[in-house]
Amino acid sequence: MTDNLLRPHAEQTFAAELAALARADTAARPANWNLSPTAVVDYLIGTTLDDATVITPKYIGPRRIIEVAVATLATDRALLLLGVPGTAKTWVSEHLSAAISGRSTLLVQGTAGTPEEAIRYGWNYARLIAEGPSEAALVSSPIMTAMREGKIARLEELTRIPSDVQDALITVLSEKTLPIPELGTEIQATRGFNLIATANDRDRGVNDLSSALRRRFNTVVLPLPASADEEVAIVTQRVADLGAALELPELPSPADEIRRVVTVFRELRSGLTEDGRTKVKQPSGTLSTAEAISVVTQGIAMSAHFGDGVLRPADVAAGIHGAVIKDPSSDAVIWTEYLESVVRDRDDWADFYRAARGALS
Ligand SMILES: Nc1ncnc2c1ncn2[C@@H]1O[C@H](COP(=O)(O)OP(=O)(O)OP(=O)(O)O)[C@@H](O)[C@H]1O
Ligand SMILES: [Mg+2]
Repeated sequence: MTDNLLRPHAEQTFAAELAALARADTAARPANWNLSPTAVVDYLIGTTLDDATVITPKYIGPRRIIEVAVATLATDRALLLLGVPGTAKTWVSEHLSAAISGRSTLLVQGTAGTPEEAIRYGWNYARLIAEGPSEAALVSSPIMTAMREGKIARLEELTRIPSDVQDALITVLSEKTLPIPELGTEIQATRGFNLIATANDRDRGVNDLSSALRRRFNTVVLPLPASADEEVAIVTQRVADLGAALELPELPSPADEIRRVVTVFRELRSGLTEDGRTKVKQPSGTLSTAEAISVVTQGIAMSAHFGDGVLRPADVAAGIHGAVIKDPSSDAVIWTEYLESVVRDRDDWADFYRAARGALS
């Protein structure tokens, strides 16, 4: 059972939705896919099935983006999800692989220290020394396993991986094979295999993709939420999900505070107030939707445990303060200016202004 897990995988949390979609799905499925492309998109965007099963939205944004991503995975090109931090790249990649392969865990985390073995294969050294190179001594990478089983593999933060290690992917993606010279064999990918990579816009220039590798990917850019309403909807939904998973009590109408957090984040991110009238300076940190979600979740925990059970400005002020002020000197000045020139004069923001000033001193 998954009841006691801190964070079950998407395919565990949404097992019932996935099963209902599979039952209702009459469209053709690509080889080794658990669902048809339309059903995969429905799983991500949300819908209500004929049997009244509600499929909750996972990704809140344009359906078209998810359609392009899913269509790509049905071709021989891999998918690269690109975007600024907190635009749900990792989240979408997990749900796509859960819906398509029923398994989101064939995952390689890209870092500056990711070795080639993480992409290809390694060895069980005890066995290697005792028996010499053999199939049994081989330690499969998640990508190799995905090739064998015809599943979707995931590669996080592709552009943080050193270029020469990245290039180990070229043969995998173009020839769909992984040679094992030590054994004189290869693993040929089974139908259904593909790869979803994610990369952060901010890492551009760290280890840019070689043009040879770039050609093996279709890039889908995940945008920032188009409007404040959309961002409020994302934060509201994710805060509710997270709160339920963390067993935080449900608070009455946190909507006002959520809107306020989103407004602050959007204004500081864009450098302009929502009414378009006042320019504000932008702090150094990225004020992503993901951070707005954690500020509100943290606020709910504060309110539930130490407050009066209603989400109040004071409960979110400390969290916003921490999210905005990444550089103690320059960001503190920017935040103070914003409070004085924008927040102070707003109707209904007096409590928030006071709480935020309080967190500053
Ligand atoms: N459009 C959206 N729809 C649904 N959830 C969203 C959306 N945008 C952001 N989120 C939420 O934001 C959180 C962070 O997303 P995620 O970690 O996938 O971001 P990311 O793009 O991978 O960021 P990073 O570049 O920092 O790795 C998730 O909980 C996700 O649900
Ligand atoms: Mg990510």
